Amino acid sequence: MVATNEAAFTRPRVRGSRGRLGGLVSASLFLALVALFLLPTAHANVRIIAQVNGQLLTIPASSATGAVASEYLALARPGSKLDITGDVVSIGEGSPVKTEVNATPAAADLPLADGSVVTVSHGDNLLEGLVKKTETIPFQTASQGSGAFVRLVHNGTPGEKTIYQGKFSHKQAAVFTITPPENAVLGHSSAAKPGQKLAALTFDDGPGKWTQGVLDALAAKEAPATFFILGSSAAHNQALIHKIKAAGHEVENHSWSHPILTQLSDDEVRREISRTDAAIGGGRFLRPPYGTYDATVVSIAQSMGYRLVLWTVDTLDWKHRDPDSILSLVKEQTKPGAIILMHDGGVDRSQTVAAIPRVVDWLLQSGYSLTTVENLL
Ligand code: NI
Repeated sequence: MVATNEAAFTRPRVRGSRGRLGGLVSASLFLALVALFLLPTAHANVRIIAQVNGQLLTIPASSATGAVASEYLALARPGSKLDITGDVVSIGEGSPVKTEVNATPAAADLPLADGSVVTVSHGDNLLEGLVKKTETIPFQTASQGSGAFVRLVHNGTPGEKTIYQGKFSHKQAAVFTITPPENAVLGHSSAAKPGQKLAALTFDDGPGKWTQGVLDALAAKEAPATFFILGSSAAHNQALIHKIKAAGHEVENHSWSHPILTQLSDDEVRREISRTDAAIGGGRFLRPPYGTYDATVVSIAQSMGYRLVLWTVDTLDWKHRDPDSILSLVKEQTKPGAIILMHDGGVDRSQTVAAIPRVVDWLLQSGYSLTTVENLL
């Protein structure tokens, strides 16, 4: 009975005690489960309202500014690199997309708070820099008159300009003339004298192995001529130079090495003339190789006491190498004051030598007097 009582007593006591504890445990567990279940959900479900470029958006709380900017305003892009004309050199190489939160520049990882006002705008374009250069403006050359003699009437002076151009594109932005150039003026004159039928035979590129033949042919006709000598050949053929002069012919300057004088520096042009001048014992006329010259060449020659002289009759003896052709070109082109171009230097000139008596005969028969270049002026 006791046991029963005890049991009866104890059981309900124990039963009662276990019931209270079980209720507390169950409640705590339930709350924990609810909390565990609700908290993340509640966190994920909290949304804020932000205004992005004037548009109200409901977005998850604490969204990063950059993510919102790129998600909702995919149109914003970084700037580009532009050249000075505004052409894009490279897309995206300008400044990055600009994001402001509440009118303050914001980093992309800044979390957005409720009510944030976000402004996203394109990055700025980056314009290439300008560089400044100074350049000379070459002078132009004007011509006066006509004829085979050339002299400098007015010296040319180069001008100066400032150029602004793109640092990378090199595109020209602006040009300012600092000093305008002053143009050169070359005067051309002919050897024609009123009432006189004068002609001058001229031989270029010697002295060489055909010079003696030319001298003999001229001597046979007692015809004077002018030899435009290459200094480089004259230096080793002084005996021939003396022979030419002794026969009464004129010896003039055809440069030292037969270059295109306009492609040389001023000093080189001067040297071409002065070395030959020394080799021929002084001259007055320069025949520029290939007939190529400009105001600078004329100016240098003139400062050295030389006048340029070209020709009025081109026999093309170097090309056709045929006495008939040489004579017919002389007949076609000769007028009073003629300066007839032939060659005693270079390759085979036997046909030039053969043409000399026929050319001289025709000139004399046509009433021409033969003279040298110096006496034409
Ligand atoms: Ni020549």
